[in-house]
Amino acid sequence: QYDATPFLPQRGGLAAHRRSAADCRGCPLFQDATQTVFGAGSPSARVMLVGEQPGDQEDRQGEPFVGPAGGLLRKALQDAAIDVDQAYVTNAVKHFKFTPASRGKRRIHKAPSLREMTACRPWLHAELRLVDPEVVVALGATAGKALLGPSFRVTKDRGTLIPFPQKEENAEKGERGGGFVVATLHPSAILRSDDREAAFAGLVSDLRVVAGALS
Ligand code: URA
Ligand code: SF4
Repeated sequence: QYDATPFLPQRGGLAAHRRSAADCRGCPLFQDATQTVFGAGSPSARVMLVGEQPGDQEDRQGEPFVGPAGGLLRKALQDAAIDVDQAYVTNAVKHFKFTPASRGKRRIHKAPSLREMTACRPWLHAELRLVDPEVVVALGATAGKALLGPSFRVTKDRGTLIPFPQKEENAEKGERGGGFVVATLHPSAILRSDDREAAFAGLVSDLRVVAGALS
């Protein structure tokens, strides 16, 4: 059974968790990736943005959303009047999963499996508990499922304030409920979209729902 739990520190804040996550071997993804990419941003953020997993650039630099998807996300946050410096940004899975490109240096992103997502969830839930944001933004299906369970569908659930489910079994494990989740498209999906402008406008409009909940 893959599970990050044994690698979590017994106590301590975000910094302690970030240090411990660097040595996580809770699933096989640590083997081929360069480093763990833990969340980053203000520990007292009112908004937490959750992506899928680090990409090529994030894996090299060790920071979330520093590549092309991150650029698009920052622009969308700006358009929705959400201060990115007041946000905490992380991913559902903290190691980059990829297939090595046969030629050249670009590595192709591969979707994490359910087992890997489940293994990595304790890190995400520790971040939720420690940052305790008012609104969590699920960027795409992987984040949505990690936060809301397997029945989550972006197309159906995006752009509305969804009460964060408080499951008893999760409460026992110290996982958090309360506040809201807003789901939207993943920035990488927007970069790949045929109608990028419309997809970007959709992201901004979903983020305005977040901004509205904060004001
Ligand atoms: N895509 C993600 O989901 N997360 C990142 O950090 C970068 C790209
Ligand atoms: Fe640990 Fe998550 Fe990395 Fe797997 S992906 S090794 S669970 S940090």
